[in-house]
Amino acid sequence: NKAELVVDKAFVIGSVDSRLYGSFIEHVGRAVYGGIYEPGHPEADEQGFRKDVMAMVRELGVPIVRYPGGNFVSGYEWEDGVGPVDGRKRRLDLAWAALETNEVGTNEFAEWARKVGAEVMMAVNLGTRGPADARNLIEYCNHPGGTYWSDLRRSHGYEAPHKFKTWCLGNEMDGPWQIGHKTADEYGRTALETAKLMKWVDPSIELVVCGSSMRDMPTFGSWEATVLDHTYDHVDYLSLHTYYGNRKDDTASFVAKSLEMDDYIHSVIAVCDFVKAKKRSKKQMMLSFDEWNVWYHSAAADRQLERWTIAPPQIEDIYTLEDAIVVGCMIITLLKHADRVRVACIAQLVNVIGPIMTANNGIAWRQTIFYPYLHASLYGRGVSLKPIIRSPKYDCKEFTDVPCLESAVVYDEASELLTIFAVNRDLAADLVVESDLRHFAGYRIVEHLVLENPDPKAKNTATQPLNVTPHAGGDSELRDGCLRARLPKLSWNVIRLT
Ligand code: AHR
Repeated sequence: NKAELVVDKAFVIGSVDSRLYGSFIEHVGRAVYGGIYEPGHPEADEQGFRKDVMAMVRELGVPIVRYPGGNFVSGYEWEDGVGPVDGRKRRLDLAWAALETNEVGTNEFAEWARKVGAEVMMAVNLGTRGPADARNLIEYCNHPGGTYWSDLRRSHGYEAPHKFKTWCLGNEMDGPWQIGHKTADEYGRTALETAKLMKWVDPSIELVVCGSSMRDMPTFGSWEATVLDHTYDHVDYLSLHTYYGNRKDDTASFVAKSLEMDDYIHSVIAVCDFVKAKKRSKKQMMLSFDEWNVWYHSAAADRQLERWTIAPPQIEDIYTLEDAIVVGCMIITLLKHADRVRVACIAQLVNVIGPIMTANNGIAWRQTIFYPYLHASLYGRGVSLKPIIRSPKYDCKEFTDVPCLESAVVYDEASELLTIFAVNRDLAADLVVESDLRHFAGYRIVEHLVLENPDPKAKNTATQPLNVTPHAGGDSELRDGCLRARLPKLSWNVIRLT
């Protein structure tokens, strides 16, 4: 099988916002307790944060981490998580039927984020709470001092404000499962009033308003239109969320799921631009794809979990090679929309549907999905170029005309490095890709990384943490400006040139 790829420096989609490689830590399962924080662990630092986990987060170069939820935030009273740890209240977390000890709260998380070199993307509770509490929280976090809430932060040992820049106005407010679920009009009004107050406290912040929880929501489309009708002039991003799974063990369809994601992004852009037109606005709404990943392996195990325990092993998917391929295709899809998608968060980061796993009091390891995320975060910085692709196609149960080759190209103007991200979706055959690189005269291949495995279900576990890892022995050559690369069946490839 053969495919063609035309790469041209002039075909610029947009510059890649580094926040495209963001992630997410929610107070759910073992993400916080037993994930980033485990005081008794031999790797714990003086604050109880696991150094082995922090090293992996730093390795990923995660630029921004959404916190503290997720569904959790819609019942969260942030005051429970600040001040002396000893006096903190233990609460029922209704979102996940677990016990929240509040040992870690806003200030501890800010410290952790600083240690891993990430910004915090804070979410406010618009489920059980509203504008007044959001206003207090931002005053506590971002105001320098001289007021009740900012001085309370200072009295808690944080003299300097955290200066969190990106804020989410609630979470998945269209979902009946959400604590404080709302209609689009109810949410739109609350989000608008909250946005006004928050920006009056700190005009330098950026706000994300909730779009639909997924494309399949019955209110999808009209939810976005109504919410934006209320909030368009006061917010900066509209959110999208999606998770994919291979429940029917139909891998040909599963690895094509990013086509649906692409369509989802196109549709949301259309709604944003419709509202822009209606309002005769000059402002262009940007997107925050602040939850995306593969999620399905853990569903059965989660149904067996006991209620009201601390840090239960909830939504702990152990990922396969084919999941990593889907994650790679999803990253490529985000890069294809770099002009409108400015923030994206792989959900989540540690233990809970995460690229990083830990054993309680044991090792931390990299899941299969760690690698496409790592490569994109390391090498996908610069401008996203639109590759013109001619590829063999296949039909499957859920899609027709699925291109075997999925690809995105990023050019870093400063270092002049060119990176081609490419997936071969074909389950049975290698794909030879020929690419005319005449605009990159004199270039040479730095490396061709490949993530592959003869078994699509191969995974990394605590006992076999290195079963699926990338290798740098990809088969590619560059001759007279023509790149010829062989992509193994069902593989993720990164070809770096300089
Ligand atoms: O990431 C897990 C959950 O998925 C989040 O809490 C929620 O926002 C979404 O439904």
